[in-house]
Amino acid sequence: MNRPTAKNALCDRLMSQLASLLDDLEADPEVKVIVITGQRGVFAAGADVKEMLPRRFPAVLHEEFLKDWSRLSRCQKPTLAAVSGYALGGGCELAMMCDVIYADEAAIFGQPELLLGTMPGAGGTQRLCRAVGKAVTMEMCLTGRKLTATEALQAGLISRVFPAESLLEEALKTAEKIAQLSSTAVILCKRAVNAAHEMSLSVGLQYERDLFYSTFATEDRKTGMDAFVHKKKPTFSGK
Ligand code: CAA
Repeated sequence: MNRPTAKNALCDRLMSQLASLLDDLEADPEVKVIVITGQRGVFAAGADVKEMLPRRFPAVLHEEFLKDWSRLSRCQKPTLAAVSGYALGGGCELAMMCDVIYADEAAIFGQPELLLGTMPGAGGTQRLCRAVGKAVTMEMCLTGRKLTATEALQAGLISRVFPAESLLEEALKTAEKIAQLSSTAVILCKRAVNAAHEMSLSVGLQYERDLFYSTFATEDRKTGMDAFVHKKKPTFSGK
């Protein structure tokens, strides 16, 4: 995201460009993993307040305001957010749509929408609550209190914290690692983890078992196990 003068405020144009870019990246077989980032010091400061200011209820309802935002959460391919600095409001929500969140030491996560007379609208009450639980979510949403990177790590919102200089490099390293795996198994595994938030335990376990069985229909499963047994490095084809 590259609107540094507006702290990467997530305007309609940026979000529709992001959605169509994600369409292209998902369609490109050469692309295995998607890393989303901003600049040093700012991931994104939320939905564009200046654009939202004149909007009224019937318009946002009819135009389905924020509909482009869900594209990221619908990605089949693994997504990784590299968060430097501010991830506020929609910025925090965008990061939470990704599968993995890495942050730098100066990262700040918050849902300050109530301070603007509105409320989170892209997952700040739902994904945040599932990630860190009700107590932390309520305090963040109701008071606008922001979490430092260390607090976010402790709360389970993010996976790891790095110095600012190495954040993107580490994110790309992880993306490379995932890119070497079976792209088919990766998609199935991502589905299973995401299903944990949608299903009861017994249904989720059965779903996971069925997906696991389905990997036995792939060449990659045989390649991976064969390589292990023969002490070789596997090369997966996604088939
Ligand atoms: N929308 C529009 N413009 C924004 C913006 C936003 N979310 N965040 C920052 N900007 C603009 C500022 O208006 C300012 O523009 P001007 O130079 O034209 O005045 C420019 O970016 C630089 O910002 P600041 O001068 O405020 O920079 P700062 O370093 O002092 O503060 C900040 C940085 C703490 C991120 C502060 O800008 C801020 O609090 N931004 C708003 C955060 C926020 O409330 N986000 C929630 C938005 S609502 C939402 O996201 C709804 C949803 O759930 C989908």
